[in-house]
Amino acid sequence: MRRSYRVAILGATGAVGTELLQLLESRQFPISELRLLASPRSSGSTLPFMGEQVPVQVVEESSFQGIDLVLASAGGSTSKVWAPKAVAAGAVVVDNSSAFRMDPQVPLVVPEVNPQAAAAHQGIIANPNCTTILMTVVVWPLHQVQPVRRIVAATYQSASGAGARAMEEVKTQARAILADEPPKAEIFPYPLAFNLFPHNSKLNPQGYCEEEMKMVNETRKIFGTEEIRITATCVRVPVLRAHSEAINLEFEAPFSVKQAEELLSQAPGVKLVQDWEANYFPMPIEASGLDEVLVGRIRQDISHPCGLELWLSGDQIRKGAALNAVQIAELLISQKLVGQKHKPPGEQQPAHSSL
Ligand code: A2P
Repeated sequence: MRRSYRVAILGATGAVGTELLQLLESRQFPISELRLLASPRSSGSTLPFMGEQVPVQVVEESSFQGIDLVLASAGGSTSKVWAPKAVAAGAVVVDNSSAFRMDPQVPLVVPEVNPQAAAAHQGIIANPNCTTILMTVVVWPLHQVQPVRRIVAATYQSASGAGARAMEEVKTQARAILADEPPKAEIFPYPLAFNLFPHNSKLNPQGYCEEEMKMVNETRKIFGTEEIRITATCVRVPVLRAHSEAINLEFEAPFSVKQAEELLSQAPGVKLVQDWEANYFPMPIEASGLDEVLVGRIRQDISHPCGLELWLSGDQIRKGAALNAVQIAELLISQKLVGQKHKPPGEQQPAHSSL
């Protein structure tokens, strides 16, 4: 008989949390009990799951008792408080925040890229940053054939990256501007509707923001190499959902466009979208709601003999967050890495990649 699991979603009312709920339902995740957790703001609310309204509970010390698996998407500071408590209560946590991603004890997993890394978990597995997930799913199949030396990325990031309330804020700003009223910015530092600005995360002394450094550091950790040189410019754009990225890749040797197209048309989690005659390529509006990362506009870099240029759009809430987390959870189940008190690495069962 198929085993089922007691699952908690921390941050269930958020943009990613509600997507997690839908994915668990549509993918028929084996659940015997579901606990929806959020802040006191959501006290008394319910969310639909499998035809029923499930009450949302305020997270507290006892919330993780008897839980096998926690899918957390409530921000880094919330995860720092609750993930260790959930692990102490015997649960495995797939954490969508940045709190543990660069912790050497915590695997950082994109199932299409490094599923084997999950086996080393000690209770927490980190879900990478959305821009990193979208980029690594596309670059990895190429890197397997011809190592990438350098990545230059520019991102066009939707409001969804800052959560459900940020998406609402952009709509409200757009309505205000169309009514000739001044737009208000509360979640974002500046109006995003009819505007764009460099990503508003904290800047380091070199002038890079946190989002850009996540792409640099997380990609290296996921690919398992410090050798790749990566630089990025991350920009918020007035798109509601789904991020886009312009990626320049420099390989060790020339990489033909034809071979890249062949590889990406077969790569897991990727869909090639390009019609040169129609000038039709990936767009966030078409990537929204899809599992796959759309990639196209693959062309030789005219400034470098070993360079390729490509363009991608991927649903930030889905593959960039909730879907990747659910895929990690499915991976853990298939490798029997959940539902048993976790053991330190070396004492675990051998892992078998399922993707
Ligand atoms: P709530 O809706 O009660 O504020 P988003 O990224 O879309 O903004 O969603 C964030 C999610 O994290 C929401 O479900 C939110 O719950 C939850 N959350 C935020 N802060 C806390 C907290 N301190 N404790 C528990 N849940 C939190």
